[in-house]
Amino acid sequence: MKRIKIKEILLTKPEGQTVTAKGWVRTFRNNQFISLNDGSTINNLQAVVELNSITDETLKRITTGACLSVTGELIPSPAKGQAVELKVKELEILGDSDAEKFPLQPKKHSLEFLREIAHLRSRTNTFSAVMRVRHAMAFAVHKFFNDRGFFYIHTPIITGSDAEGAGAMFRVTTLDPNNPPRDEQGKVNFKEDFFGRETNLTVSGQLEGETYALALGDIYTFGPTFRAENSNTTRHLAEFWMIEPEMAFYDIGDNMQLAQEFLQYLVRYALENCAEDLEFLNKRALEEEQSKPQDQRSELSLIDRLKFVADNDFQRLSYTEAIDILKNSNPNKKKKFQYLIDEWGVDLQSEHERYLVEKHFKKPVILYNYPKDIKAFYMRQNDDNKTVAAMDVLFPGIGEIIGGSQREERYERLVKRVNELNLPEKELWWYLDLRKFGSAPHSGFGLGFERLILFVTGMTNIRDVIAYPRFPGNAEF
Ligand code: 4AD
Ligand code: MG
Repeated sequence: MKRIKIKEILLTKPEGQTVTAKGWVRTFRNNQFISLNDGSTINNLQAVVELNSITDETLKRITTGACLSVTGELIPSPAKGQAVELKVKELEILGDSDAEKFPLQPKKHSLEFLREIAHLRSRTNTFSAVMRVRHAMAFAVHKFFNDRGFFYIHTPIITGSDAEGAGAMFRVTTLDPNNPPRDEQGKVNFKEDFFGRETNLTVSGQLEGETYALALGDIYTFGPTFRAENSNTTRHLAEFWMIEPEMAFYDIGDNMQLAQEFLQYLVRYALENCAEDLEFLNKRALEEEQSKPQDQRSELSLIDRLKFVADNDFQRLSYTEAIDILKNSNPNKKKKFQYLIDEWGVDLQSEHERYLVEKHFKKPVILYNYPKDIKAFYMRQNDDNKTVAAMDVLFPGIGEIIGGSQREERYERLVKRVNELNLPEKELWWYLDLRKFGSAPHSGFGLGFERLILFVTGMTNIRDVIAYPRFPGNAEF
């Protein structure tokens, strides 16, 4: 018999037809009722074993976690909460699971515990729901751009350039750490390394992406990026996935508009295509909220938050306006912020971003025109000589979800900035060439994929929205 996915079986009209399902046992009650899940949906198939139809020996092997193949008649279910059930005629144990040793018992486990068994947490409702939503979001990213005529460019993962000029990169080398070749001064000689130079894992595909935007028009990247910052937070990973669109002839205003439309499209896509998983995650988030003090609970449920973001324009606000609001805010006056805002030019901390989004405007905010000294070298310099055409999109509960800018397309200005910041002009030769040969105004941004998944699933730790999180001190699995 051909196996049919449980998602499809549950939608089938039960007429006593014979079907085969394969999956993993969630629970087995009364030596009769098997809840079977195959990952195709959050919902389980109830498979009913008729008394005396299988041997005692087989019956004992139907345990939580075991993998089964069941064949039987699909009939209307007399039980509440399900339309169909399977009357088992044949049952085969494909993989035993010792009930005493299987770490996932049919009860609530903490997320911390589940992180330690990340190879099995995929078999829980929460993680399978998160991963199905993650898949849907990845698909929607490609659909959004493809429908708008953007081209998907695969930028390199190993690179010799540091896009952000921010350091914090993972080195890639094949040299023997115990006995590396040395030059006359006794320094490690990377000329003898695999690529004949120092190389790293990329922190962003942007700079390479720009070269393709100024050839194909609208492009995007979607790939893994790596940052060796020692950030032990619920919003940082050392390996995360980033989507970076880059558009020729876009100014900062066009860029902000695209960022809003993109995020709203993704959220709407989730609402329309992941309804069952979002129902489940919504309930889960509500239960988690119950354990928080009243004043820390969010005013809207997960699904209401998603609808709100999909349907309302984001607030656009210059950095200078934001500083004014923050300076005069209650938490600043009452010295409740850990970092007090007293002058123009300071970098905003997540407490400030969250105040603007969650308390002041109560909606997503796009901040733009940041001081040039706190932003990257490639951002377009404004006429005031103080600010650059940068933008950050800030989301409730998340903080920064997107960072981007209009790029400096004027050769002289860009070179001057590169030198002011002591960046290696020589290594950036190809990036600077772009401004010598047919330069054009252009813009782009980067969306942190896991931060998007945090927002859409209502999970609160970024380590729980990627299969195998990489963070300081952890590269298990
Ligand atoms: O603001 P960032 O550093 O911007 C760039 O990398 C630009 N090159 C993007 C561009 O203009 N093409 O990173 C972009 C986004 C952030 O807004 C955040 O959502 C996410 O990437 N991000 C991280 N996500 C998880 N873990 C980390 N350590 C992250 N660092 C940044
Ligand atoms: Mg940023």
